Amino acid sequence: MSSRSTPPAVDVRGLRKGFGRHTVLDGLDLTVERGEVFALLGPNGAGKTTTINILTTLVRPDAGTATVAGIDVVQAPEQVKQRISLTGQSAAVDDVLTGNENLVMLARLSGLSARAARARATELLERFALTDAGAKRVGTYSGGMRRRLDLALSFVVTPEVLFLDEPTTGLDTRSRRELWDVIRSLAEAGTTVFLTTQYLEEADQLADRIAVLDGGCVVASGTPAALKARVGGDTVELHDAHGDLLREVPTDGTVSGLRRALDVLDESGAEGVVTLRRPSLDDVFLALTSSDGRGRADAREAEASALKEIA
Ligand SMILES: Nc1ncnc2c1ncn2[C@@H]1O[C@H](COP(=O)(O)OP(=O)(O)O)[C@@H](O)[C@H]1O
Ligand SMILES: [Mg+2]
Repeated sequence: MSSRSTPPAVDVRGLRKGFGRHTVLDGLDLTVERGEVFALLGPNGAGKTTTINILTTLVRPDAGTATVAGIDVVQAPEQVKQRISLTGQSAAVDDVLTGNENLVMLARLSGLSARAARARATELLERFALTDAGAKRVGTYSGGMRRRLDLALSFVVTPEVLFLDEPTTGLDTRSRRELWDVIRSLAEAGTTVFLTTQYLEEADQLADRIAVLDGGCVVASGTPAALKARVGGDTVELHDAHGDLLREVPTDGTVSGLRRALDVLDESGAEGVVTLRRPSLDDVFLALTSSDGRGRADAREAEASALKEIA
């Protein structure tokens, strides 16, 4: 439902940012539609936090444009701030107050009535497994509890666009899954979620669309399924008793396709164990990024055009 009157939730064109001589963002382009869960996926140091900081008006870009809910982040930062919410607000947490008091205070500051603020705090404490801790001073919290309170605070008011910078880093498996549920329910209610992650599984589980950040640019973007398809389809593999690969036959994953692949293996006469290998986001990531921070996809394109020139 895209029309001229509803701009994308996030629109980034040619965004550049460097620190000293170190270029972090080198012409970043991305668009997030309203109501989408969008994951910016990249290794440590790729520029994910820098991107979020620019979109949440904390850092000024060197060049390019970025809008959130149609509003330019450089021209009208105050208007942008009214429409977003961002995690990492631990600095705003008062250690002397209890978790519950912190939540109620923020809810009151955000314009909720005293009664609504109390209800919201109770609900959020429960959602983030802090009900027992709610009456204790934040100064006594463990690192994990602080992290959950920090997340709870970012959900006090449902924003138009919620930015979550590596929301599940440092959480245990159970809290991670609970947070995924919270994010999904917000998305269902219409909030746009822009999250960053180093966890491929997380992007795969949550995101409608993923952009892979490497070397300061988006090296690939699309649905999790489309990204997987880019790396290649499913393969039927035949392994010997030692697990060594004997044969592999590409397949489309359909029943008839699998049957044909098995026939091919059967006719080859080789004996072994059959498995179906589906590309994971790890494969996507490995195929599209490189440890030196330059997009391997770019390198491949350069290689391909060099080959064309030779031919
Ligand atoms: N304020 C800053 N001053 C200097 N360098 C910075 C600053 N912020 C980030 N960087 C550098 O920019 C690069 C990208 O950082 P960041 O955006 O935090 O990456 P990510 O969140 O993907 O791990 C890193 O090399 C980091 O050291
Ligand atoms: Mg970061």
